[in-house]
Amino acid sequence: CGIVGLVGKKEVKVKDIVNGLQKLEYRGYDSAGIAFSQNNHIELIKTTGKIANLRKELNREIENDISIGIAHTRWATHGGVTDLNAHPHTDCTGKIALVHNGIIENFQELRKELIEKGHKFKSETDTEVIAHLVEEYYEGNLFEAVLKTIKRLEGAYAIGVIHTDEKRIVSVRKGSPLVVAYNEDYAVLASDITPIIKYTKDVYFMNDNEMAVLEPGKIEFYNINGEKIEKKSVHIDWDEQAAEKGGYDHFMLKEINEQPEALKAAITGRIKNGEPVISEINNIEEFIKNNLKKIFIVACGTSYHAGLTFKYFMNRYSKIDVDIEVASEFRYMNPHVDENTLVVAISQSGETIDTLEGIRIAKEKGAKVITISNVYGSTIPRESHGAIYMNTGPEIGVAATKTYTAQIAILYALGAKIIELTEGLNEEIRGILKGIEKMPEIYKEVLKLNEKIKELAREYVKYQHMMYIGRGFGYPTALEGALKLKEISYIHAAGYQAGELKHGPIALLDEQFPVFAIIPKDSLYEKMKSNLMESRARNANIIAITTKGNEEIKQLANEYIMVPETHEALYPLVMAPVIQLFSYNVAVLRKLDPDKPRNLAKSVTVE
Ligand code: G6P
Repeated sequence: CGIVGLVGKKEVKVKDIVNGLQKLEYRGYDSAGIAFSQNNHIELIKTTGKIANLRKELNREIENDISIGIAHTRWATHGGVTDLNAHPHTDCTGKIALVHNGIIENFQELRKELIEKGHKFKSETDTEVIAHLVEEYYEGNLFEAVLKTIKRLEGAYAIGVIHTDEKRIVSVRKGSPLVVAYNEDYAVLASDITPIIKYTKDVYFMNDNEMAVLEPGKIEFYNINGEKIEKKSVHIDWDEQAAEKGGYDHFMLKEINEQPEALKAAITGRIKNGEPVISEINNIEEFIKNNLKKIFIVACGTSYHAGLTFKYFMNRYSKIDVDIEVASEFRYMNPHVDENTLVVAISQSGETIDTLEGIRIAKEKGAKVITISNVYGSTIPRESHGAIYMNTGPEIGVAATKTYTAQIAILYALGAKIIELTEGLNEEIRGILKGIEKMPEIYKEVLKLNEKIKELAREYVKYQHMMYIGRGFGYPTALEGALKLKEISYIHAAGYQAGELKHGPIALLDEQFPVFAIIPKDSLYEKMKSNLMESRARNANIIAITTKGNEEIKQLANEYIMVPETHEALYPLVMAPVIQLFSYNVAVLRKLDPDKPRNLAKSVTVE
């Protein structure tokens, strides 16, 4: 989601706020809304669809001078895509309005408590509880009320709140991005700097647990104990277009670099100290406990590779039968699913027609269907018995990156939940989940490898082919590496189980056909080593991704990249940014646009 707020000494027109919001549309576009103060009450205009719809809805009001306002563009997490669920949200008195980006984990408890106190809720969102809490605590000072409110909130948020009796915006950040700035006449807040640059290039990046009170021409900063703090502004040189991509050259690179936050958002409320919490499957828990005999995974493209990783996980840690098929095959193959089967459908867009038809067939055969998707209210999750949303925000690059790693993390949490319900969790699985909780930090380290990866890309860009190989958990990573390279750089690439080399693919290898080996120090390391030696014997150049400290790799491969050591099941997560960055750099060196590869679409709604 994206939020903006603007307060001015001089005129603030509705359209100034909407124009600012427009710059954040890339952060979500299923609904949008604006709130401003007029004649002592909050004027609220919101609608589903893109910001263009909001403009239409606003009509002549767009020229109104309002002096203060907040707005929101939504990427749904809790509550369907409806006008009522769109932000801003208001309290019962109609004097308070609020925009929120993030997830309130304890909203159900808070909602219950507030309803008991007589609050009437208008939406299904987690956000609305914040507006009612502010109302509950308001005693003539919005800042004090927000201070009390945030003590009650668990989860992630960036919020902007207004009250009709006060000409200021109170904002807080914990876990979701928030930038604020001011000039002589205005003060402005937003989810990123794009709506701000028009007013000033000196901005304040808010840290977690910091509050800002925005008044025309000034901002005061506080910690969450209400004590004043000093913050330093940062001068930004980007133009507006560069700002939209977060200063990166392409959305793909931005999205690769967003993985620490995206993964964190995906697991927030779903993994807690190594325990899986997947409330989205509450309604089929009894089914899982009493009936589940088989899991069938159905997906396409990158989502299929996340699914295959999940298959390896379930195969190793549970006794349940697990099968997987790409959706375009599944739907025409008489799949063996019945009333004892759980179909796990994976679709970033939630609209891929083959996956949709696949789950329809599965449902006809009596199976239960759970979908993992990034797009709230899209068709596949709507037609499923349960939906788990990734919460990573929209992905603009056609090639999936941050949603791939979010999928794997959620699938592992889902798998652990299923195991908990059927066989019981063990310490190893808890350890894997704890490892996922550490992944955002590990990612920061992995992303620093980009300079080295760029060097490799420079050397390998000249080849026409590339063979990716891996074993066990490394095999789906090999497939995804090959897919990423071919789809954005148009270099022919294929992924193989390393053990299959000798049954055909090895015939291709020579000095013109390099190998990209996924070779962590795991239980199959020795086997992978043999495959590397076989490849070298055919004069193939080898790039290897391996575990930090593995000095032996220098004798086995021509080039190597080392990632931090982790649990065997987590290398698919740790290594994903490396294969993504390699493909990205090769595509850029070939002067191709990685965001819009030829012949491909983000959402494939044709067979
Ligand atoms: C398209 C996209 C891929 C994606 C695949 C499946 O081919 O270009 O990046 O992996 O569809 O999409 P889904 O939305 O179902 O995950």
